[in-house]
Amino acid sequence: MSAPVYQKTVSAPVNIAVIKYWGKRDVGLNLPSNSSLSVTLSQNDLRTLTTASCSAAFEEDSLWLNGAMESMCESPRLSVCVRELRKSRLELEAKNESLEKIANYKLRVVSENNFPTAAGLASSAAGFAAFAQAICALYELPWTPTELSRVARQGSGSACRSLFGGYVSWEMGEQPTGADSVAVQVAPVEHWPEMRVAILVVSAAKKGVSSTAGMQATVATSSLFAERARNVVPQRMVEMKNAIRARDFASFAQLTMKDSNQFHAVCLDTTPPIFYLNDTSRAIIRAVESINSSVNGYAAAYTFDAGPNAVIYFLEKDSDLVLTTLRSVTQNAEGWEKADFKPVESSEFLN
Ligand code: PMV
Repeated sequence: MSAPVYQKTVSAPVNIAVIKYWGKRDVGLNLPSNSSLSVTLSQNDLRTLTTASCSAAFEEDSLWLNGAMESMCESPRLSVCVRELRKSRLELEAKNESLEKIANYKLRVVSENNFPTAAGLASSAAGFAAFAQAICALYELPWTPTELSRVARQGSGSACRSLFGGYVSWEMGEQPTGADSVAVQVAPVEHWPEMRVAILVVSAAKKGVSSTAGMQATVATSSLFAERARNVVPQRMVEMKNAIRARDFASFAQLTMKDSNQFHAVCLDTTPPIFYLNDTSRAIIRAVESINSSVNGYAAAYTFDAGPNAVIYFLEKDSDLVLTTLRSVTQNAEGWEKADFKPVESSEFLN
C-alpha cells in the first residue's frame, strides 16, 4: 500500500505598500528599519496559489515555483520558515496523541503566480505569505494571522502584510528577537468601499536589483535613508493611519506619493545608485500630477515598488477621469491591468 499524502491548498494576495519598507536593522531575522503600511489587493487579480503536501514517501523537501523546481534547503529564508513551522507541529503532536505524526515527513510545496514574478509587483509578498499559510494549514497550527506573520516575515518582509485583507501595518517592533515585529490590520476593506486600484504593468521583466541586495546597499551607503527611517516614517505612519480611519483621500494620496518618491530618492542616494523607475513610470507620475491639477485637489495617487510598474489608487467616482487619462499615457507599455480590490478575510486563507 502506498504511503498517504497529506495536502492543503491556499491562496494569498499581493499587497502594495503606501508607506514603504526599505532597509533591515537585522538581516538574519529580517527586521525592518521602519514600520510600513500597505493595501491588500483582490485575489481575483494578483495572487499566489500554493499547495503544501507531505508524505512518508517524499525523499526531500521541494518547492515548485511556476513549474520549475527550486531547492528549498539552499534558500535560508525558506528553511527558516519551514524549521519554525515544523517545530510547532512537533510540539502540537507531542501535546495531542490523536494527531497524525507528519511533522518529520518531507514537504512538497507547489506555487503558481498569476502575474509576473519579481517585476516589482510584490510577488515575494504573496509567495511567502502563501508558503507559510499553506504549511500552517497542513500542520493545523492554531495560529492567528498576526502570529503567522512573524514566520512569513522571515521569508520576505512584505509577506507578513499579505496575511490580512484591507489596510495593514507592519509594526517594526522593538525586541531584538523580532517577537513584536508583526503585521496588524488597520482597517478592513469594507471600511472604505469606494477605494479602487489600478496596476500599470510597464514592464514584466525581472527587476535589475533584488530588494534584499538593494536594501543592504542603501543601509550601508545612504545618509538620506537614516533620516527617512528615524525622522520621517514614524510621523508618516501616524498620519497615514489617521487618513485611512477618516477616509481622507487627499491626505492618503499626498502621503502615498511623497513616500513613493522618498523611497526612490533613497534608492538614488545609494552607492552605486539604484534606478527602478523608467521613462514610462515618469510619464505616469506626470499624468497623475496633471489629473490632480485638473481637479484642484487629489483624484489619484501613484506608488512604485522596486520596479517600473505603477500602482494607482483612486476613488470609484473618479474612475473615468483616472483610467481614461492613464490609458492614453500607457499605450506603449507592455500591458495594462486593472484590479479592483475587495475583502480578503483571513478565514478564507486557512481552509
Ligand atoms: O519584502 P521584500 O524584501 O520583497 O521588500 C519589499 C520592498 C518594497 O516592495 C519596495 C516595499 C514594501 O514595503 O513592500
